[in-house]
Amino acid sequence: TAIDAFDMVLFGGTGDLVMRKLLPALYHQHQDGNLPAEGRLICLGRSVPDTAAYLDKAHGLAKGYLGNAYNDADWASFAARIQYLKLDANQPEEFQKLADVLGEFPHRSRVFYLSTAPDLFAPIAKSLAGVGLNQGNSRVVLEKPLGHDLESSNKISREVGEFFQEQQIYRIDHYLGKEPVLNLIALRFGNTLLEPLWRREWIRDVQITVTEQVGVETRADFYDKAGALRDMIQNHLLQLLTIVAMEPPASIDADAVRDEKLKVLRALKPLTAETVHSHVVRGQYRAGAIGGKPVQGYLEEPGVPGSSKTETFVALKAEIQTWRWAGVPFYLRTGKRLQERLAEIVINFREAPHSIFGRNATPNRLVIRLQPDESVRLYLMAKEPGNQFRLRPVHLDLDFKEFFSSRSPEAYERLLMDVIRGDLSLFVRRDELQAAWKWVEPIINSWETSAEGPKPYTAGTWGPAAASALLSRDGMAWHEEA
Ligand code: BG6
Repeated sequence: TAIDAFDMVLFGGTGDLVMRKLLPALYHQHQDGNLPAEGRLICLGRSVPDTAAYLDKAHGLAKGYLGNAYNDADWASFAARIQYLKLDANQPEEFQKLADVLGEFPHRSRVFYLSTAPDLFAPIAKSLAGVGLNQGNSRVVLEKPLGHDLESSNKISREVGEFFQEQQIYRIDHYLGKEPVLNLIALRFGNTLLEPLWRREWIRDVQITVTEQVGVETRADFYDKAGALRDMIQNHLLQLLTIVAMEPPASIDADAVRDEKLKVLRALKPLTAETVHSHVVRGQYRAGAIGGKPVQGYLEEPGVPGSSKTETFVALKAEIQTWRWAGVPFYLRTGKRLQERLAEIVINFREAPHSIFGRNATPNRLVIRLQPDESVRLYLMAKEPGNQFRLRPVHLDLDFKEFFSSRSPEAYERLLMDVIRGDLSLFVRRDELQAAWKWVEPIINSWETSAEGPKPYTAGTWGPAAASALLSRDGMAWHEEA
């Protein structure tokens, strides 16, 4: 279906996210012919004088990020959409300039992408409203961090909500735009095979792992105040959990899907000071080696205070109090400076009730891999060739790259197109955000008051031993240790 003409305004236009992710994503969609011919990108900033200088900077950076996808002709036609406007988002009176530029095409849908520090969300929303830009077909895109606890997150929602309706607010969680996550939705609700098995009677446990090899990089300022719980668990991992656990929605409409996700978040068993202690492990990396190269510890990273208790690793056990999931542990794990870069969802099925082949069969397992490659793999038992009945685990592979010859788009491509189209399905609703913060709050509180800090782990390992113990206590093991 044809997409209407649009204007997209990028606040923080000279920043890292715009340069590294958003412009490359839009370039790809432009190159694939998915953007309507009429669509401007209006980039705002303070550090660059004019459009020529802005394009100069963007071109240099984009070339690097685009790799093989870059070519001069496509860049030239893409760059023709870009207009730079020098604007200080702290100054309400400067917004008239923006209103004038947008006023050239009064009937276009308008997207305001707030790629700025969150303390600017409310002032920008207010200033946009001040010049009438919150009216009609206007959308505002917010990117995390959406608060640092329940209260501050509620404050952002309330303040932005004064000027924009919930239907106009697109809260990005880029994990929801990753192709394998969308494929999990397709697998679950486009097939009959899995649904009867997708419950406590057949599933023993679920594991959601997002590990990275990188450390804190140059973000100590932000990261040391956030930590892995706020940076990854509260948003990305809990969102993945909702996709695994939600009931079949009645349709793919935004609110049908988000209603079901919300129910999952609300059904998470609340943690208490005691269960935080027994169900949640926090860690912090020490010096070690990644891929054979020595790396320094978190406390030695530039910008990190030597006494920091910020966690760079979290593993936890969550439970969902519903008929479908009662008693099924959901193990979540994320961290930096770990052995591998890996993002996957593992569904472990129950053991066969009785083995006729003597030795125990390995239980079936479904692995949805998001990173580094994209695949779905189903582990089954098969008979080894020969005269005996010897069983061995084998796997059925759904290799998207091989099966579909088309390119697998980056998460931001999909999400930006959804904003332009006006489809909210993959964006986090206010009540979902609130429910997620509410669930992590006891963890934050208990850590703040605890004398015990995070458990140290050596960079390049799978994290503190306590993370393995969390599962072995239940008679289970992380996928790569099983
Ligand atoms: C971001 C976090 O949201 O997600 C980063 O702030 C993290 O700390 C990143 O590195 C991981 O995203 P991806 O898509 O690279 O797995």
